[in-house]
Amino acid sequence: MKIAVISTNESHLQDLGRLLALNRHNVVLSSGEKTKIRSVAEQDAPDLMLVDGMSCELADLALVEYVTTHHPATAVVLLCSEQTPEFLIHAMRVGVREVLPSPATPEAIEAAVNRVAAKLQGSSQRQTGKLLAFIGCKGGSGSTFIATNLGYHLAESRSVLLIDLNLQFGDALSFVYEAPPTLTLADVARDINRLDASFLAATAVKVAPNYSVLAAPEALTQAMAIKPEHVEAIIKLALLNFDFVLLDLPRILDTLALKALDRADKIYPVLQAGVPGIQNAKKLLTVFRSLGYPDTKAEMIVNRFEKGGDIGFSEIEQSLSGAIVRTVPNSYKEVNSSINQGRALLESSRSNAVSKSLAELSATLIPPTEDARGFLGRIFNTRG
Ligand SMILES: Nc1ncnc2c1ncn2[C@@H]1O[C@H](COP(=O)(O)OP(=O)(O)OP(=O)(O)O)[C@@H](O)[C@H]1O
Ligand SMILES: [Mg+2]
Repeated sequence: MKIAVISTNESHLQDLGRLLALNRHNVVLSSGEKTKIRSVAEQDAPDLMLVDGMSCELADLALVEYVTTHHPATAVVLLCSEQTPEFLIHAMRVGVREVLPSPATPEAIEAAVNRVAAKLQGSSQRQTGKLLAFIGCKGGSGSTFIATNLGYHLAESRSVLLIDLNLQFGDALSFVYEAPPTLTLADVARDINRLDASFLAATAVKVAPNYSVLAAPEALTQAMAIKPEHVEAIIKLALLNFDFVLLDLPRILDTLALKALDRADKIYPVLQAGVPGIQNAKKLLTVFRSLGYPDTKAEMIVNRFEKGGDIGFSEIEQSLSGAIVRTVPNSYKEVNSSINQGRALLESSRSNAVSKSLAELSATLIPPTEDARGFLGRIFNTRG
């Protein structure tokens, strides 16, 4: 584990350093005041930060809260020479993992470090889910419709969370749910140091037994308080708790979107078969290539595609040379009626051509189960 130790007391610093190095930790020692907490968290990104010599003053906890809020992956343990019950309560509230006496015995330090390590190992051993990012090449291409409805298909056999990252004008929830959300991404961001699996589950709206949506904030002003670090922490946790995490992204390549695209296993740019959409799709592909993404990372979805239209499939494929291109057919009446009712299309019409095409897309993401392989294998053998 990477552990950063901060102390004004040189002998405490060296003692802690020796003890942790003996236990094979990667240790970074910083001699100095607790005001260093923030810079150490930003520069070293440790798994654990041991801060020695904290006073019992509540004001000091503001420094700690900055780290627990902006760097949720860093656990903070404080070493204090005196501890009042009020200080302990506040420390826990701002997300401090433990408060130990200062100086602490080697046994107390080792036990606290082991507890943090066990938690870290527990989370890294869990299999992580797949992150799928959806981005419209042009406004109104159908990116939200495809993301929300594909989620419904995937949720027939897997657990799915969709996060609406159109922070200002997000409407994803309304495509698959008829009521407004009680809680949104803004509530998670506001209480980011409380973030854990149960808080995330309680904030997302359950739209089907295996499918939840974390809605965008209701008010425009709330969107501004959501920072890229919050979204990063939410995605990281979501991937530990869901088989698929779907992101409905806005058409702005800002820090938030780029981090999400980097982290994504698959990116689905959604376009329609028109010149403006194709031009924007090309621009996105150029960005993806310049970011070093392999060509298989993005799969272009030509939505509302109709055979015999002005621009044919092979023309689109040629324009987007090298990219994987899929199509979803046009079905204006049924798609619109499903959106207006706030119900997934699959619920009203499984036989609709759009539902079938989303089922095919979903199948590309879910490998056949062992059972299915056995079944096909048996048929194959019998016939052979
Ligand atoms: N396959 C389809 N067949 C027919 N109509 C569709 C289809 N997909 C989407 N639509 C229509 O396109 C409209 C826009 O879809 P959607 O809101 O998903 O696009 P978007 O790319 O998310 O737009 P925005 O830029 O506003 O985020 C929908 O309201 C629906 O009427
Ligand atoms: Mg949208």
